[in-house]
Amino acid sequence: MSSSATGAAKPTVTVTLDGSNRSTRLPVLSGSIGPDVVDIRKLYGDLGVFTFDPGYGATASCESKITYIDGDAGVLLYRGYPIEQLAEQSDFIEVSYLLMYGDLPTPSQLEAFRKGVTYHTMVHEQLRRFFDGFRRDAHPMAVICGVVGALAAFYHDNLDINDPHQREIAAYRLIAKIPTIAAWAYKYSIGQPFMYPRNDLSYAENFLYMLNAVPSESWKPNPILSRAMDRILVLHADHEQNASTSTVRLAGSTGANPFACVAAGIAALWGPAHGGANEAVLKMLGEIGSPENIPQFISEVKDKNSHTKLMGFGHRVYKNFDPRAKIMKETCHEVLAELGIKDEPLLDMAMEMERIALSDDYFIQRKLYPNVDFYSGIILKAMGIPTSMFTVLFAVARTVGWVSQWKEMIEDPSQRIGRPRQIYTGATQRDYVPVDRRG
Ligand code: ACO
Repeated sequence: MSSSATGAAKPTVTVTLDGSNRSTRLPVLSGSIGPDVVDIRKLYGDLGVFTFDPGYGATASCESKITYIDGDAGVLLYRGYPIEQLAEQSDFIEVSYLLMYGDLPTPSQLEAFRKGVTYHTMVHEQLRRFFDGFRRDAHPMAVICGVVGALAAFYHDNLDINDPHQREIAAYRLIAKIPTIAAWAYKYSIGQPFMYPRNDLSYAENFLYMLNAVPSESWKPNPILSRAMDRILVLHADHEQNASTSTVRLAGSTGANPFACVAAGIAALWGPAHGGANEAVLKMLGEIGSPENIPQFISEVKDKNSHTKLMGFGHRVYKNFDPRAKIMKETCHEVLAELGIKDEPLLDMAMEMERIALSDDYFIQRKLYPNVDFYSGIILKAMGIPTSMFTVLFAVARTVGWVSQWKEMIEDPSQRIGRPRQIYTGATQRDYVPVDRRG
């Protein structure tokens, strides 16, 4: 097969199946920014061949207007706005509006959205009992995955995905209820009473309240910690077609309800190669123990037979730096200063690890840099959030990304069920042999 780009005004790629006289011209599509993409939809019909791209390293699975990443330049834009500006000047609720609706809200739109989300923060009282069915030592990701999936059983009044109003209500419910569910998963694991949401607090404050407050004592938000939590939520809110978002879209493409789709996204996020990395970073730092063991650990990472990865390093798309990691590192210093933590061995070790890795040929050649998860775990630990809750927190933040991407997909007239193909390398057709004639 050979290919060549042709044409100036409307470029196409001509693909010729060598030795067959068959060729086809494939259109080249341009986005508003980013590399052009070859539209291969008629390739199979014209030439009878598929493309092969395991891991989707060279495949755009959809058209989207939500998030843009330039991995070489370290750029991340939500609806065109740089993540640095949003992390500095906006807040999670405004960013949620932006992701869902495409533009920054006017003051009255923002107020209405804030009220709308806040209105839905409670969960059906009967849903409380679901928690009792889990073991106390269950991982909170297992709990939230189950409880979010169960929301469809409680809110089936608005499950018609073809009705824009019902889609919106479901989206509000998910964004509003996920902190409540997440905090209750934590409270359940430590045997403390569930704290009901407080709608007089901001989204981040309320989440911290439900995690940390107890009914017997008064609780006051700490503005620096609330701001740090808000920033963590903003930084994790969306990230283009990553594994969990693609899972949500794939599940949604079948017409499944949004609660089921987000539960599928939570399951995909759980893995250590994705959202589970922040938890894995702390585990890794704990196992290394002290800075003098770092060189030994780095040699282990470089040994292919060890299967050890430097957690919190590397990214499928970022090949220069992860802009979120930079903000996270600054926030980490702010939080430690606010909490009066002058000497945090984990932070010292993380910084030393970063220094060593960034000057090591193995990491330089493979363009491996710290990702968002490298520092987030240290901040969360300093804020008193247990390690098992780190990925849960990521899920709380990413819910708005998932519902925005799900909504965009449902509203896309070209949307079809997601159904990849394969290269089949198994046995060719053969005849069944009864068991007594085998072996
Ligand atoms: N430590 C050591 N080596 C690494 C790492 C790492 N963290 N990441 C990639 N590499 C190596 C690979 O072994 C491979 O080496 P090779 O070319 O000699 O075979 C090369 O770098 C390219 O890596 P790939 O595995 O092809 O990269 P891919 O894009 O498939 O994976 C991923 C990206 C999953 C993030 C990977 O870098 C990784 O596992 N990192 C650690 C886990 C992590 O931090 N995940 C969080 C991602 S961000 C997020 O989800 C919020």
